[in-house]
Amino acid sequence: MLNIEATIKQLVTHSEEPFCAYLYDLGELRSHAQKMISALPKNAEFFYAAKANPEREILAALSPIVDGFEAASGGELKWLHQLHPEKPLIFGGPGKLPSELKLALECGVDAIHVESQNELKRLAELSAQMGRPAPVFLRMNIPLDNIEVTKLAMGGKPTPFGFDPQELPDALAIVQRSNYLELKGFHFHLMSHQLCVDTHLKLIQLYFNTFKQWCTDYQLSPPILNVGGGMGINYQDPGNHFDWWRFCEGLKVLIDAESMNDTRIRFECGRFVTATCGYYVMEVLDIKRNHGEFFAIARGGTHHFRTPAAQGHSHPFSVIKGGNSEVSVENEKITIVGQLCTPKDVLAKSEMVKSLSLGDYLCFPLAGAYAWNISHQNFLMHEKPRVYFL
Ligand SMILES: Cc1ncc(COP(=O)(O)O)c(C=O)c1O
Repeated sequence: MLNIEATIKQLVTHSEEPFCAYLYDLGELRSHAQKMISALPKNAEFFYAAKANPEREILAALSPIVDGFEAASGGELKWLHQLHPEKPLIFGGPGKLPSELKLALECGVDAIHVESQNELKRLAELSAQMGRPAPVFLRMNIPLDNIEVTKLAMGGKPTPFGFDPQELPDALAIVQRSNYLELKGFHFHLMSHQLCVDTHLKLIQLYFNTFKQWCTDYQLSPPILNVGGGMGINYQDPGNHFDWWRFCEGLKVLIDAESMNDTRIRFECGRFVTATCGYYVMEVLDIKRNHGEFFAIARGGTHHFRTPAAQGHSHPFSVIKGGNSEVSVENEKITIVGQLCTPKDVLAKSEMVKSLSLGDYLCFPLAGAYAWNISHQNFLMHEKPRVYFL
């Protein structure tokens, strides 16, 4: 694992302008992903959901470790296929264009996650026209049976995602009528930001039971059950992220108890894979007091690092000394903002700092997932941050 403070101190010496950058610790990423995968049960597969961070170097680091990649748009699919033509790919997401479905068939993807009957019919027509088999997973939105939801639920209630189980007979009839659609499995991704292992195991148990029931009711034997991703990062209490290791132990027990050993259990995780390898670093440009409250204005902002604004949280950070001490605050609460002319450009709100001076560096960890790539990068035409893959 990199010594981030020492690395930043070294990098800033090469910067003529106030410093602003993303740093990715690729060694940490590799070792974290490797550990995650070695903890899984034998019949599990692990795909990386590229939407969390599709940077070329991140994908290259993960490629030898994961079983494949998940793409949620034609753009991601093209990018992944171009960079890693040898890797199995999943193509999911709502509102797929006919041209994107065609691309998926041409790329020979491992799975197309179908979201609706219209999409299924469109895929049946296209695959017949092209004379190419289409490996299909039906994405299902099932009731949650009192399982507690997280702050970001994609199912268990009316949403645009997946089939209502009532539509399953019609969907299966479409598959059966086609000579080209091949049902390879069912797909569930009902929630993200999961922090509770026991709740997530209950959710997986619901997936298992539903899968088995459908196999019996409709005399099916699809080889794979995709259980999505959704393992959470605890931005408020970084010592308490989702406990993947305890989860994997519980999963092994559950697989035995529910006799799921003959089904391949496929994961497609994003946030939990890459969040911890990324850091966003900003240099403090200004410190001021306004109506009794302190503000630090730092180089960059939510147009680079939208995660805190998107999640509505105050992002954890550390201060790396580097500035002069003439303008500084000590033992004060301070709000960290960026350079945008909107009061929403807040990265951390009223947080206590021991000492903060002009020219110090603010280092935001947990910035490796849904960070740079979900930010409104062109707003105000500020420069982009530097990016270091270390
Ligand atoms: C269908 C699907 N699969 C996987 C993921 C990855 O989720 P996470 O990054 O929470 O692991 C998402 C995230 O939105 C998703 O929508």
